[in-house]
Amino acid sequence: MSQHHHEPNELSSPPNFDFAGTTPYEDYVQADVLTHLQHPLSDDPGEMVFLVTTQVMELWFTVIVHEWRTAAQALRGDDLPTAMAALKRSTYELESLNASWKPLAHLTPGQFNAYRSALGEGSGFQSAMYRRMEFLLGDKSASMLVPHRGAPRVHAELEKALQEPSLYDEVLGFLARRGHEVPAAILTRDLAQRYDADPGVEQVWQRIYAGPDQDGVAVRLGEALTEVAELVWRWRNDHLVATRRAMGAKTGTGGSAGVAWLEKRAAKNVFPELWTARSHV
Ligand code: HEM
Repeated sequence: MSQHHHEPNELSSPPNFDFAGTTPYEDYVQADVLTHLQHPLSDDPGEMVFLVTTQVMELWFTVIVHEWRTAAQALRGDDLPTAMAALKRSTYELESLNASWKPLAHLTPGQFNAYRSALGEGSGFQSAMYRRMEFLLGDKSASMLVPHRGAPRVHAELEKALQEPSLYDEVLGFLARRGHEVPAAILTRDLAQRYDADPGVEQVWQRIYAGPDQDGVAVRLGEALTEVAELVWRWRNDHLVATRRAMGAKTGTGGSAGVAWLEKRAAKNVFPELWTARSHV
């Protein structure tokens, strides 16, 4: 025990100050590593928050991927409480992720230009963790691995994620085992292909949402997924508006048409049948 040790019940005893090596906080959080990963490429004072916001978002992507993988694995084992808890956590995390647009949501073209050219060809399009999120949502694409050919660990993780069932695949498997008539072709689909909206799956959700048990497992699961879908859609739209404010219709640093390309991406519905089924209830 250190010399600063006090009895635990002594009022207003100060924290411990003495540690032989690095603090236990540092050992756990690695704050010294985390706070020295910021290397701006320009002299513009506004670049720091652009870089850190991007890093913060990468961390949220990492947590959200963890939650959705937890949920997918739990559904595979028919463990609904674990799956629902992970999905619920992920919606709070998505709200925090979306709130972190604030510092970048009002950039003028002049402010963005002050460091834009220093970014070279760097673009969020090259974010592997965002791609893992999209794969878990069912938006699989082998060509999205191509930019990562030069990074073996990243590429291997993406390759594995491409082949694994998405969160939505596990949801549909779970529903099928509970007697919902998910088409066989969906349950045996090539998992590495993008999931496309299916009329049979739309009917499954339509029956669930029209059914008598509005507090039942299937409606609760559907609503948790709808919440995830809405918040992902919000992230895409907030990104789109921030981009439009910062650079108008210029081409992106990643080489795309910019806003026009992002508009197309943002228009896609996550878990499409959960939205279309509502028209028929
Ligand atoms: C206001 C600042 C930002 C602007 C102007 C901007 C601009 C763009 C543009 C034009 C694209 C299309 C690809 C390209 O040609 O580069 C893109 C893609 C992307 N950006 Fe940003 N971005 C900004 C901030 C961020 C931040 C902070 C993140 C967080 C990681 C991010 C993540 C992404 C992702 C994941 C994509 C790919 C989207 C997809 O594949 O559908 N962006 N961005």
